[in-house]
Amino acid sequence: MNITLSKKSKIKNVDFNNLPFGKIFSDHMFVCDYFNGKWNDERIIPYSDIKISPSARVFHYGQAIFEGMKAFKSNDDNILLFRPDENFKRFNLSSKRLAIPEIPKNIFFSGLNELLKADQKWIKKGIGNSLYIRPFVIASEESINASEADFYKFMIICTPAKSYYENQEIWVKIEERYSRAAKGGVGFAKASGNYAAQFYPTKVAKNEGFQQIIWTDSNYHDKIEEAGTMNLFFRINKELITSPINDSILDGITRKSIIDISKSMGLDVIEREITVSELLSSHESGELKEIFGTGTAVAVLPINGFGYRDKKFLINPKSNKISIDLKNKLQNIQYGITESFSEWQYKVS
Ligand code: COI
Repeated sequence: MNITLSKKSKIKNVDFNNLPFGKIFSDHMFVCDYFNGKWNDERIIPYSDIKISPSARVFHYGQAIFEGMKAFKSNDDNILLFRPDENFKRFNLSSKRLAIPEIPKNIFFSGLNELLKADQKWIKKGIGNSLYIRPFVIASEESINASEADFYKFMIICTPAKSYYENQEIWVKIEERYSRAAKGGVGFAKASGNYAAQFYPTKVAKNEGFQQIIWTDSNYHDKIEEAGTMNLFFRINKELITSPINDSILDGITRKSIIDISKSMGLDVIEREITVSELLSSHESGELKEIFGTGTAVAVLPINGFGYRDKKFLINPKSNKISIDLKNKLQNIQYGITESFSEWQYKVS
């Protein structure tokens, strides 16, 4: 692989104690181009703008997909990735759905390894510090013909991250008017357009004091699916419930890890449909103990309350919260502190 290191690092100007999510980028990026029916010219270059035609299909038809991953630094200075094989699999699953050529495993992993080695000083030690990694593919072909492209760019960029939400209460609103995904659509894929489509309803919800929306099924707006940037878990009495994966729900890697960690703790975790009426009645009866979100960016995020129609429902702040325990267990794996689930750790070399 061709590696061109940047002459001057930007790192001195970065306040690592005060990092807005996703606004500061590390010194390098990985780039690879698809043409002649294959992926070519893998390279690491200094992070910079790219040259692309205004008629590139991505701008017109949104043929683009992405992943979200995090790198952590262990106490003994290893760079650790969390289950990158799962990201790789999902990347190609998303690609396939959007008619994007799949990325060979060696290109994905050598790109990641070389980029993280080049930017290793951007990964700070200590729980809560990470480097958020954003692999993505865009259709770069100069054409506004509405069909899949023959040319693409696969890139990886990185942004140092602390928490997605800084010490604030998290309220989520049950969405009944708009839909995120329909049966047979692209909801299971990390298609860039999935996120753009939620900006408007989320903006409306933000004006009403919510951080994210809870998506419900597009037919009856009755079954709970997922939230804006995370999967959801509900603790009702002793049961920890999360919606089963289907083609309108993203198969979250943190979600499936939390299911396994919960099982290992002896918790009664179950993947089953949960309806808005069940949520409301369990809140009413006091059986709803906790809601939390899971995702790469948010990790495990306790939720303070939810909104339905014009009412707000506070989750009893006094009920003990297992999400705190789950988050600690997850972080111990991610930072290489514990031996359990060590098969999920991937050492950059
Ligand atoms: C992630 O958690 O990595 C995501 O993809 C959500 C992102 C849109 C912030």
